[in-house]
Amino acid sequence: MWPNNRILELFGIELPIIQAPMASCVFSEMVVAVSEAGGLGSLPCALLSLEQMRSELESIRRRTSRPIHVNFFCHTPPQVDATRERLWGQCLQRYYDELGLAQNTQVPSANRASFDDKMCDLVVEFHPEVVSFHFGLPEEKLVKRIRNTGAKIVSSATTVDEARWLEDRGCDAIIAQGYEAGGHRGIFLSEDVSTQAGTMALVPQVADAVKVPVIAAGGIGDARGVVAAFALGAAAVQIGTAYLLCPEAKINPLYREALKNSTDAQTTLTNIFTGRPARAILNRAIRELGPISENVPDFPLAATALGPLRSKAEAAGSSDFTPLWSGQAARLGREFPAAELTKQLAAEALGKLRPLQTVA
Ligand SMILES: Cc1cc2nc3c(=O)[nH]c(=O)nc-3n(C[C@H](O)[C@H](O)[C@H](O)COP(=O)(O)O)c2cc1C
Repeated sequence: MWPNNRILELFGIELPIIQAPMASCVFSEMVVAVSEAGGLGSLPCALLSLEQMRSELESIRRRTSRPIHVNFFCHTPPQVDATRERLWGQCLQRYYDELGLAQNTQVPSANRASFDDKMCDLVVEFHPEVVSFHFGLPEEKLVKRIRNTGAKIVSSATTVDEARWLEDRGCDAIIAQGYEAGGHRGIFLSEDVSTQAGTMALVPQVADAVKVPVIAAGGIGDARGVVAAFALGAAAVQIGTAYLLCPEAKINPLYREALKNSTDAQTTLTNIFTGRPARAILNRAIRELGPISENVPDFPLAATALGPLRSKAEAAGSSDFTPLWSGQAARLGREFPAAELTKQLAAEALGKLRPLQTVA
C-alpha cells in the first residue's frame, strides 16, 4: 500500500502521518486523537512543567494504548548577558511606553527548558514509544537511559551534515526539516539559516546520506505533499501547521484567524520572539524589530521581555506582539478534527499514490 513501510514498522503505527509536536499548541487531546486514528500523536514538552508533563502523560496513557511520541528541546542553557538584556529592553521601551507598561512588568510564563534528568525520569516512567529532540541530542547518558526503555529516538536535521551527525549518535530515524517549516528551526551545527534547503531539496539528499528512515517535515499541508514526500525518499511525514486549525489545537482566536488568512508570502524566519530562528506569520513586532535582530538575548531568554507586550496587546484584540508560528503552507489547512484530518490525509494520499504505482 505505502511505497515505504519502514516508519510504520519501526514505530508500530498504521499510517505514516506524524502530527508534529508544537509547544504551547498541542496537548493530550490532540495526541490521543491522532494516535487513535492510526497516526503518531506527539506531545511537545518544551513549555510544560514537570507536573504538567506528568498529568498530560497520565491522561494520554489512560485514553490510548497506541504508540505515542514525546518531544523535548535540548539546547545549551543560555548565559544571562546583562548588556544584551539592557539593549533588548531599550529596543522594546517605545512599545512599553505606547502600551502604558512599566519596564519591570512581568507576566507569568513558562520558558523553554532543556531536557534534563528529571524529564528523563518521566520518560522512563511513562516509556513513550518514540522520543524526539529539537536542536540536536542531549548528553549521551540521557540518550542511553531513553534507549534502555526501548523507545525509538528521533531528532530533526536541517542539513545533510546534521542528519549524518544524528545517525552517527544512534538516532533510529531522522526528521528532515525543510526551510518551509513552521516554528523553530532544528538547526544545531551552524547558525547560518541563509543557506538552509527547502523540503524538496533536503529530503532526497538526507535519504541518500543516511541508512535510517527519513521523515519529511516542512510545508506539507495536504495529500499532495504526503505523496511528494514519499517520492523524495521519505518513509513518513511530520505535519505541524496543518494541525493548528484542528479544534483540538489550543491556540487563541487571534492566532487561529491569522492562520486562516495567511498566504504563501506572509511568513518569515525571525529570532525576535525567543532568540532562535523560527518561522512565523509577519506581524508588527517582526516588521519593526526584525525579522532577525542582533540585539536579542540568547534563546530562550528573548521571550521574557516580550511577554508583557504580548499579554497587553492580546487583551486589546491585537496580535502585534504574538508569535504566530506557521509554516509556508498554512493556506492548505482544513478545519477538521485531528482524527479526521489524519485519516483524510492518509486516504487521499493513498488515492493519489495508487495510479502512480500502476504507471510505474
Ligand atoms: C506552532 C509550532 C510549534 C512547534 N513546536 C515544536 C516543538 O515544540 N518541538 C519540535 O520538535 N518542533 C516544533 N515545531 C516544528 C515541527 O516539528 C515541524 O518541523 C514543522 O511544523 C513542520 O512544518 P509545517 O509546520 O510546515 O508542517 C513547531 C512548529 C509549529 C508550527
